[in-house]
Amino acid sequence: MAMATGPKPALLGGIKTRAARWPTWPVWDKTDEEAILGALRSSRWYRVGGTKVDAFETQYASLTGAPHCLATANGTSALLTSMAAMGIGAGDEVVIPAYTFVATVNAVMMLNALPVFADTDMDSFQVDARSMASRVTSQTTLLMPVHMAGAAADLDAILEVGKQKKVPVLEDACQAHLGEWRGRNVGTWGAAGCFSFQASKNLNSGEGGAILTASSDLVERAYAFHNNSNRRKVDGPFDGRGLNLRMTEFQGALLVSQMARIEEFAKRRDDNAKYLDSMLRQIPGINPQKNHGGCTRSAWHLFMLRYDSGPFNGLPRAKFLKALQAEGITCSSGYTPLNKSESVVRALATKSYQRVFGKKVLEEWKDRNHCPQNDKLCEQAVWFTQNMLIGSRADMEQIAEAVKKIQTWSRDLAKG
Ligand SMILES: Cc1ncc(COP(=O)(O)O)c(C=O)c1O
Repeated sequence: MAMATGPKPALLGGIKTRAARWPTWPVWDKTDEEAILGALRSSRWYRVGGTKVDAFETQYASLTGAPHCLATANGTSALLTSMAAMGIGAGDEVVIPAYTFVATVNAVMMLNALPVFADTDMDSFQVDARSMASRVTSQTTLLMPVHMAGAAADLDAILEVGKQKKVPVLEDACQAHLGEWRGRNVGTWGAAGCFSFQASKNLNSGEGGAILTASSDLVERAYAFHNNSNRRKVDGPFDGRGLNLRMTEFQGALLVSQMARIEEFAKRRDDNAKYLDSMLRQIPGINPQKNHGGCTRSAWHLFMLRYDSGPFNGLPRAKFLKALQAEGITCSSGYTPLNKSESVVRALATKSYQRVFGKKVLEEWKDRNHCPQNDKLCEQAVWFTQNMLIGSRADMEQIAEAVKKIQTWSRDLAKG
């Protein structure tokens, strides 16, 4: 058996591939300071009667090509508000991906609707449209795909499922600012699309959210819901219930100034991610996420890959991640299966769920929610975050170099 040669991995006492820090996030300067101070000095810190949130809504709608935009306190409230405005509630079934952030399911459960999980496509890491179709019953009132990592879910297929089954589609585009499907922004294809501006996101105001829609009726219902059931127009449509899920003027002002950089950063991420993809794809056992053909632009909120331990002498993923981190390459294992999460299981066991859906539906729910592909993906995934993609091409080369080094020494690492 050949001995490994070349520089040793840091975990075996070698010198780490990268000593420098990764680019920090967020990026801000004087213009952001002025924007925040402008909101402060105006003494109008509340959106009603203010100008900053209104300006953000107009500019985000224009940037994405959406007829209407409503800003919200965060992405979760954008999802909650959209669903409420679409009339989703107790007794409804909502089909969502098993591979997503917990907020997707939390928003569904806040409305006492039943989340039904669809399996994941192993190549794209996006929800499998055929699995979504198979989950639809006469109780299904919404399909909610997620554009994972900033790349588009298969919108052609999902919109077709919605059309065939007569169920509307709400896009969770919380990770996908400026992502595109067939040259048009994601979030503008379904009945509505939701975005998050939470601190990790590619467009960031600490917290924040937005809903895009082409429907003037939906946007008014959403406005009233997010504004404690107070309508914007006296005779506008509304559904009675509401919450306070408004964005502040500070968030609006910061988002307007942050938007000045979004395109430049999007280009940089796209160039770097494609370069990284081209290098990693050549390494046996490393399978970067493949976008669907219709995805003409990814937002690259994350760079995701599937790690196959076979070509790494059986080195378990946890050890691979540890070795990569020791090389100075920040990485994580990503999501665990949401369809099996304790929070979902507990929520469905509450009295209100038992009362609304009954024992039989909830007992059968487990059998309807198997997602074997997703289970496998959750065991294999490796993630890099968007801030790592805004640096230089040399940064990308270091990631590939570190992975190769680990592969070369994988037999020794597996033993340790
Ligand atoms: C897919 C997805 N949906 C929903 C959310 C919720 O957004 P927020 O954290 O702004 O409430 C997030 C953000 O983290 C997300 O990634």
